[in-house]
Amino acid sequence: MTEQAIYMDPALARGTTLSLGRQLVANGCVTESQLDRALRKQNNDHPAAGNNEHLVGRTLVDLGYISQSALLDCLFSQFSREREAYRADAGETPIIRLEQVVKILDGRRVLDAIDIAIPAKRVTAIIGMSGGGKSVILKHMVGLMRPTEGEVRVGEHLLGALSPRQLAKVRGRFSFLFQGGALFDSLNVYDNVAFPLREKTDWSESVIHDRVMRCLEEVNLFGMERKFPDELSGGMMKRAALARALVTDPEILLLDEPTAGLDPIIENAIHYLICDTYMRTRYTMVVISHAVPEIFRWCHHVIALHKGKVLFSGPSTEIGQSRNPVIRQFISGDIDGPIQVI
Ligand SMILES: Nc1ncnc2c1ncn2[C@@H]1O[C@H](COP(=O)(O)OP(=O)(O)O)[C@@H](O)[C@H]1O
Ligand SMILES: [Mg+2]
Repeated sequence: MTEQAIYMDPALARGTTLSLGRQLVANGCVTESQLDRALRKQNNDHPAAGNNEHLVGRTLVDLGYISQSALLDCLFSQFSREREAYRADAGETPIIRLEQVVKILDGRRVLDAIDIAIPAKRVTAIIGMSGGGKSVILKHMVGLMRPTEGEVRVGEHLLGALSPRQLAKVRGRFSFLFQGGALFDSLNVYDNVAFPLREKTDWSESVIHDRVMRCLEEVNLFGMERKFPDELSGGMMKRAALARALVTDPEILLLDEPTAGLDPIIENAIHYLICDTYMRTRYTMVVISHAVPEIFRWCHHVIALHKGKVLFSGPSTEIGQSRNPVIRQFISGDIDGPIQVI
């Protein structure tokens, strides 16, 4: 990662669609002059966010130019267009692959010869009952766990064949938001978010400061930098953990239950934030979620896991048509069905 990377607009650099601000003007949701005024206010209030048209949504809401639901609809309609265009068999090379992976833990076959392919620069959701092996899969992707049998590939690398130094380099391409958020209790929000940069880069404190403040702005935690984790609500803690995962500008972002334990309104806000982050950055994202069926709106690809096997892997637009009774029970949330719940 270079210092220069900080100052590039990632969405522009990666050649994506219109910025959120431009999109809102194009859709007639706000006028050009309202957008200008909001950008000036944003620049004034939060210099770290500057003129970034991707971040202007909240300022437009603050100024009363647009409602929160209209903002959400705009982002969602942008995402849903590409979600509907997504095909699993488009011939794209997957960025991460698990091939015939078996994992035995405490004598139990937690992963039972599974094949998984994660599409690059897309959002993939992994769903399934708790204890089904979802977190274990993420740990295999970053080499924190090794398969009992089978192979894990990241790009052209076979993880099992790498030296510790090579593995560390591959790991550097990932950010991992662990289940539970796992902020450091003894560090305030600022130092939590700065932590990976102080560990992984030799950047000066002033460069780190700019980057941290911008990430806090992106997750709507501006002004909270001196708070300690025990002073934050559950939603704020997830936001801080997300900022810490984003601060290194990773190529691949793994999110393990980013909305667990949050109430539905905050859960929606975190889904919005994740989708918004994706639209700005185009990172490859893998999200473990129990928020079914809501999560299907926010991802391209779904992998459903049950008892160590993959039951479904395909576009989120197709899972609703699955005839598999276990999948149907997942989606409907019915107590009656093949999954034993009592
Ligand atoms: N380090 C470990 N040692 C022993 N068993 C483990 C370990 N990690 C996970 N397991 C077991 O593997 C199964 C799958 O766990 P996990 O992947 O965490 O499930 P989930 O789908 O809820 O994320 C569970 O039965 C869990 O107890
Ligand atoms: Mg888990």
